[in-house]
Amino acid sequence: MTMNDLIMHNLIQLISTHTGIQIRKQDYKDFCNKIYSRLKILKLNTPEQYYEVLLKVSQLQSVSYKENDSINEWKELVMLLTIGETYFFRDRGQINLIKNKILPELITKNRNNCHKNKDKKPCLKIWSAGCSSGEEPYSLAIIVKQLIPDLSDWNILILGTDINPESIEKAQEGIYDSWSFRQVEPQIQKQYFHQRKMRWEVDRQIRKLVKFRCMNLSQEAFPNQFDLHNIDIIVCRNVFIYFNSVAIATVLEKFYQTLIPGGYLIAGHTELHGQNLGQLQPIIFPGSVVYQRSENLQVASSSGSNSSASKLLLKSDSPQENTSIKQKSVLNLNSSKNVMQTPTQGRSLSQNPAPETAYQSVLKQAEIFFHSGEYARAIQAAKQVILLQPKHFDAYFLTAQAWANLGESEQAIQYCQQALQVDNLSEKAYYLLAHIAEEKGDKEQAKALFKKIIYLTPSSIGAYLEISSIYAKEGDIDRAKKMLNTALELLNNLSAEEYVESYHKITASELLLQVKAILSTFK
Ligand SMILES: C[S@@+](CC[C@H](N)C(=O)[O-])C[C@H]1O[C@@H](n2cnc3c(N)ncnc32)[C@H](O)[C@@H]1O
Repeated sequence: MTMNDLIMHNLIQLISTHTGIQIRKQDYKDFCNKIYSRLKILKLNTPEQYYEVLLKVSQLQSVSYKENDSINEWKELVMLLTIGETYFFRDRGQINLIKNKILPELITKNRNNCHKNKDKKPCLKIWSAGCSSGEEPYSLAIIVKQLIPDLSDWNILILGTDINPESIEKAQEGIYDSWSFRQVEPQIQKQYFHQRKMRWEVDRQIRKLVKFRCMNLSQEAFPNQFDLHNIDIIVCRNVFIYFNSVAIATVLEKFYQTLIPGGYLIAGHTELHGQNLGQLQPIIFPGSVVYQRSENLQVASSSGSNSSASKLLLKSDSPQENTSIKQKSVLNLNSSKNVMQTPTQGRSLSQNPAPETAYQSVLKQAEIFFHSGEYARAIQAAKQVILLQPKHFDAYFLTAQAWANLGESEQAIQYCQQALQVDNLSEKAYYLLAHIAEEKGDKEQAKALFKKIIYLTPSSIGAYLEISSIYAKEGDIDRAKKMLNTALELLNNLSAEEYVESYHKITASELLLQVKAILSTFK
């Protein structure tokens, strides 16, 4: 299905304003299909009519999601556009940071403040914003339960919110299948969940700590005088990936106002890299960067009025180093080099490697940057992966591809070679090197590299076609034909409908026709 540019643009704009969700260029086709699937269900004839339906609803901003039928359409659309993928104790690095560092610090501080102010009970408020089906706030509740033995003497709020009402219903139900437990130690699962046939229900003690409600982060006003003010920790992970930068900046400002001074915002790895952080202060721990609302308002407003100029504070994992490092280590956010070369950071990382999930999330983000054409940011993120995992082939290769797309062939070659040091049998790294060589006019080198690919994978149709094309350009028609004929033989061994490796979505029969057509021009 296709849609005219104007209505596509209007729909994308409206969705962005209403939800903060950004539709990326590479997702346009998929987006179109989703819109047409809604048209069919609603029995509407044109995308323009659908736009009118959405527009009407987006003007009723203060109406709650369940009060108006037409609001359901936004609900349906958002469900189509976002993915609620989540699981318990997701991202071990961040979870350990919360459990071993951030929460103990806040618990001690809030307990002391309570004594000082002679309040009845100390408070702790945690908000999981964009919590999907609730695994994240329940994980936080389990940690709180582990850390505060005298829970009944505390006022605790753990709030989970999400734009998707179905996710919130599931969260309130609190019953999960085994896939949600893929990162959970069996002993924790046993202690805090009860088996219900093939599924597991969250223990009542934990459920009591957590409240859920539906909420659109882009549209709703917060802080508010009810629950959303003076929050100690806001966890908002894997949500900003859907947002445009304006929406991110708006939500960050609201988060800032909603945090208690000294409170923390924890986002997914690199989700806020390069974003306008407002007055939030980035602090680097070995496992993750987190963002703090400064205790000292004067410092916050003078040092952090805009993102790129914001300063990074480095924190060490070792408790005794923590306080002094906060004062002595102030680096520029833009200088990833500084971040990587900081001795404290380097030492902590090598002593205490981040868990697998940390670098996987960063790599995922790097891939997202790469696929949306943000190559410089992809390189930055991939470099962080390399820092955490110095033998990570995909990180080197992604960096090489990003440099190549930026036209920096020397950098691309260097990273490709580093990728090959990790895996010297990688076809795709040789392909990239060969293409760079060709681009630079070094045909001999390009042919040698394609031959290397054939040596590694004798059935590599792509490599035969590439060498044939070089021979043809050199006027060596005999050799060009020979290579094409070998490619033909290999194609004949595939079944007609089979996709040819490294030729996305081209079937063997289609490529066969093309190769025959080229061969016929040689006669
Ligand atoms: C991938 S899940 C993240 C779940 C959890 N935070 C985690 O990291 O495992 C992203 C969630 O963000 C929610 N979301 C997307 N846009 C939102 C918005 N404007 N307001 C609130 N939630 C939103 C989606 O409904 C989805 O459940």
